[in-house]
Amino acid sequence: MEILNLYCGIGGNRHLWGDEHNITAVELNEKVAAEYKRRYPNDTVIVADAHEYLLHNFKKFDFIWTSPPCPTHSRTNYFTQAIKKVPTYPDMKLWQEIIYLNQFCKALWIVENVIPYYEPFLPQYTQIGRHFIWSNFRIPKIEMPKNEIGTMMKQYVGTGKHAHDKSLEDRNAVNSELGLHILNCAVGKILIKKDYEQHSLFGSGM
Ligand SMILES: C[S@@+](CC[C@H](N)C(=O)[O-])C[C@H]1O[C@@H](n2cnc3c(N)ncnc32)[C@H](O)[C@@H]1O
Repeated sequence: MEILNLYCGIGGNRHLWGDEHNITAVELNEKVAAEYKRRYPNDTVIVADAHEYLLHNFKKFDFIWTSPPCPTHSRTNYFTQAIKKVPTYPDMKLWQEIIYLNQFCKALWIVENVIPYYEPFLPQYTQIGRHFIWSNFRIPKIEMPKNEIGTMMKQYVGTGKHAHDKSLEDRNAVNSELGLHILNCAVGKILIKKDYEQHSLFGSGM
């Protein structure tokens, strides 16, 4: 599959995806992108604005994962806005991507974010652990570890329970088991579609 991994960070979501897919990863921060490339040398890593990249390239991919930044949506805003006194609007790029993909993207896609501090107005999401996931295919719920420390976290940051024990990139990383679960759902969906197309081809001649 051709996979697009947007706002890839250090690739927590991608850690268990293996190397059988062609993966293009987009990240704005050069240092973070370099760390991703070090971890996944076979992936194509592009330092660019993922929001713009999506708009102009979404047709080239079979599966798109996008993780727009979550700080302006997360419930930490109760703290940052009230205590730190940093007034910030929620970044509408999250909603732009969901609306656009939902309307125009024929490939399989997911948009991942944290549970927001407000009621989401586009409701086709799955909630798994601390994530809301919007997608155009079904993603059954799975149990997530309480502190969501997945394979990659354990390997790179130990099992410390406190978020401040980890670097920002590590805290940002999506749990790798969740990443694999979602990829498996996408692959399954594609296999079912292929099977259906093959079946109807033979079926029509019989
Ligand atoms: C929540 S993290 C992504 C986590 C990643 N999906 C994972 O599983 O490890 C968001 C990342 O988006 C990057 N980022 C922020 N704005 C961006 C933009 N406009 N284009 C590309 N990357 C961006 C940040 O540097 C950060 O690494």
